[in-house]
Amino acid sequence: MVSESKPKIILDCDPGVDDAIAIITACRWANIVGITSVSGNVSIEHTTSNALKMKKLLNIAAPLHSGASRPIASEPFHASHVHGQTGLGDTNLPEPDDLADSDDAVGFILEKTREEEGIHLVPIGPLTNIALAIKADPSLVNRVASITLMGGGAGVGNVTPAAEFNIFADPEAADLVFRSGAQLNMVGLNLTHQVLMGSMHADYCYELNTPVAKAAGDLLNFNGRTHGTEKGSHLGAMHDPCAVLAVTHPDLFTSKPRSVVVELEGAHTRGQTLVDERDWVDTEKNCNVYYGVDSEKAIGLILQAVSEFDPNG
Ligand code: RIB
Ligand code: CA
Repeated sequence: MVSESKPKIILDCDPGVDDAIAIITACRWANIVGITSVSGNVSIEHTTSNALKMKKLLNIAAPLHSGASRPIASEPFHASHVHGQTGLGDTNLPEPDDLADSDDAVGFILEKTREEEGIHLVPIGPLTNIALAIKADPSLVNRVASITLMGGGAGVGNVTPAAEFNIFADPEAADLVFRSGAQLNMVGLNLTHQVLMGSMHADYCYELNTPVAKAAGDLLNFNGRTHGTEKGSHLGAMHDPCAVLAVTHPDLFTSKPRSVVVELEGAHTRGQTLVDERDWVDTEKNCNVYYGVDSEKAIGLILQAVSEFDPNG
């Protein structure tokens, strides 16, 4: 369902259970001009295959280009304990018919943003592809509408007390992106932990009795079991769809311009997004940090994307 009025996005992802829900959400509310995959939750082979499976399930016409198979300067760090061995939990989606359109995600990002104005880059995995694209052509940051990322957090981590997975998995990439001068929007854990979904939402999806809704129900249940931020409630934070909705429905959110740096050295804090909240200090604000969300409306839009999926686009 593409219309000119919907914001154009390139979704850079590491599916990933919540990435898959983000793809469903973007399919309904955004104009997806491209999808790029990156190593993150699971290997690049799995994240690419999973993105292709979602493309097939959702009949997405936009191209998929695979990208970085490892971080810029560290060893690959995966999260199969959270997303399952292959990355899509216990779903059983049909194997993709197609291969990726290329293995040059960086080249696609640079070329597509030269061809078309006003594209939002929406990275929801480690920032490796985005950093490599900026490194190859720093003017990228001036021709995109925004880089709106799921990652980091103001005062909260998940891999460690200080670091969130997408940043922790490739801190050097994140550091380059946060220093790039881009119009940066950080949708971090302090925000996404307010958007919790689980078994009751999965039950709603199952009632819809469609292939997309069945997949969404399975993903939400799996996420609730493994991601649960409130033990026993089967509620898990729905991280990645929040970054998509921050672009498509900005009025649901509040943010503040902040100075944010990425810690690379700390023995206990490597991968931290250090957010300067000292309002009385005059610092260079390099990032809008997201703090508030109308969680009920956000969840409603995610479920509406599931219920209103139109296979004819
Ligand atoms: O910390 C949450 C983030 O890490 C999400 O993007 C999830 O998919 C994982 O990549
Ligand atoms: Ca992700």
